[in-house]
Formats: sequence, structure tokens, C-alpha cells
Amino acid sequence: MQMKETCAVITGGASGLGEATARLFAEAGAKVTLLDRNAEQGEKVAAELGGTFVETDVTSEASVQNAMQAAVAAMGKINTAVNCAGIGTAEKTLNKNGAHSLEHYQRIININLIGTFNVARLAAVEMAKNDPTDDNQRGVIINTASVAAFDGQKGQAGYAASKGGIVATSLPMARDLAREGIRVMAIAPGIFLTPMLMGLPQEVQDQLAADVTNPRRLGDPREYASLARFICECGYLNGEVIRIDGALRMQ
Ligand SMILES: NC(=O)c1ccc[n+]([C@@H]2O[C@H](COP(=O)([O-])OP(=O)(O)OC[C@H]3O[C@@H](n4cnc5c(N)ncnc54)[C@H](O)[C@@H]3O)[C@@H](O)[C@H]2O)c1
Repeated sequence: MQMKETCAVITGGASGLGEATARLFAEAGAKVTLLDRNAEQGEKVAAELGGTFVETDVTSEASVQNAMQAAVAAMGKINTAVNCAGIGTAEKTLNKNGAHSLEHYQRIININLIGTFNVARLAAVEMAKNDPTDDNQRGVIINTASVAAFDGQKGQAGYAASKGGIVATSLPMARDLAREGIRVMAIAPGIFLTPMLMGLPQEVQDQLAADVTNPRRLGDPREYASLARFICECGYLNGEVIRIDGALRMQ
């Protein structure tokens, strides 16, 4: 699907990887609707891009249904969904407070995994209404996993589980939606310089960058965005997870 035909909902579009994706897609001629719970930042980014912002909590069925209706009203249809909303909090299984908080674990799974599926399934409802292309296609869903799905670090039991769930979902969801002509892909980023990372001291950022094989630096969110664009444009990619990490393999 070419960018000029793309009508994309992008969750987490107010910041980081989602924002970079919204910017690159809009610059390339796509219509974009940003879904985020951060209204102040989301409105600002959408206004700059000539896109639409809808305050959304990805974990809520009603909120995402409302966002899909608003996106269809703004763009005419939805044929692309990029899921970037997520949190990256950490806690060890046993820590100074005792066992990992169950509430915290449930929160990570709820936002990262259930929120992603919630958006994907409700975007698919709208995509299924599209006229098919010559290749019998109606849309593409791109979910954001993490290299933590494969080599999670200390304190990432919840985060890694949420991202592993996203990896595991790609193939069955691609199979489920084959009849409708909707592709489902996941991107597993390494370490990207987003607001999440920018808050860390410079020496910690340098240490993280030193572990990257080549190029020895943190990822630029625009590199994530260009992969998301490539997935949209390359119609034979489906049911797979692509790492984008400078060959980083965390110990
Ligand atoms: N930055 C990295 O190095 C990195 C690496 C691997 C994976 N990821 C994943 O990429 C995604 C984006 O990360 P980022 O670095 O851009 O983070 P970020 O914090 O810059 O952006 C995340 C956005 O998600 C939004 N959000 C959080 N919970 C939400 C909810 N319930 N409903 C709607 N919006 C919500 C936030 O408001 C924020 O705007 C996340 O899923 C993260 O786990 C990031």
C-alpha cells in the first residue's frame, strides 16, 4: 500500500516511536489519526501534521470504539493501524518490598498486550469494510513488540511477557484476518532514543549504546518509522516479527 493511499490510526502517536511514525507517514502523503491518552502533546503533534487527534485509552473498549469512529469520520476509512502505545516499567520478581506487585504486572499486560489487541481487533472491523485492492488487500496492522520478548532483562518479567504475547499473536492474527485481506506484522525494536530513554543520564545512555553491535548508537525513532512504512508498502510481509536493533543481543 502506497503512503498516498494510507489512512492510518497510530496509537502512542503523541510521543516517541508513534510520533515519528505519524510524522514520516504524513510527510509522505498519508492521512493520520493519532490515538493517545496524552491529549496536550497529541493535539500539538496532530496540528503540526494536519492530522487528527483522539484522546484514547487503548485498554478501554468504549474509548477505542469511539476513536475508530472519529478516525473514519476524519479520514474516510482506516486501512493501517500502527500500535505504539505502551509503558516500559520494571520490577524484579522478588524485590525489597517482597513479591512483584500483581497489580503492576496486570497493568503492564493490560496496556501493552491487551491494549494492542484491543486496537488491532477494532481496527480490523473497519478495515474489513474497505473495498479490496487488485491483490485482494484491505489493510495492515503493525504491532510493537521489543527485543525484550526474546532477551528480557532483570526486572522485565511483566514487560517481556507483554511483548512476547505480541510476538506470539502475529501469526494467528494474520491467519484469522487472511480472508479479509488484512496483514499483521510486529516490529521488535532494540533501544531507541525516545522520551522514555532521554530521561536517563547521559552515561547510562552511552552504556546502552556501547552494547549495540553496529552501528554503535541508540536507534533513531525515524528508523522505526521507515520500517513501519516499508511494511505498509511491501505487500508480501505478513505474520512475522522484524527486529530492528543494530544486531543488539542483550545478555
Ligand atoms: N524506546 C525504546 O527503546 C523501545 C524499545 C522497544 C520497544 N519499545 C516499545 O515501543 C512503544 C513506544 O515506545 P516509546 O519509546 O515511543 O515510548 P513513549 O513513552 O515515548 O510513547 C508511548 C506513548 O504511549 C502512550 N500511552 C501509554 N499508555 C497508553 C494508553 N493506555 N492509552 C493510550 N496511549 C497510551 C503514552 O502517552 C505515550 O505517548 C512501546 O510499546 C514500547 O514498549 C520501545
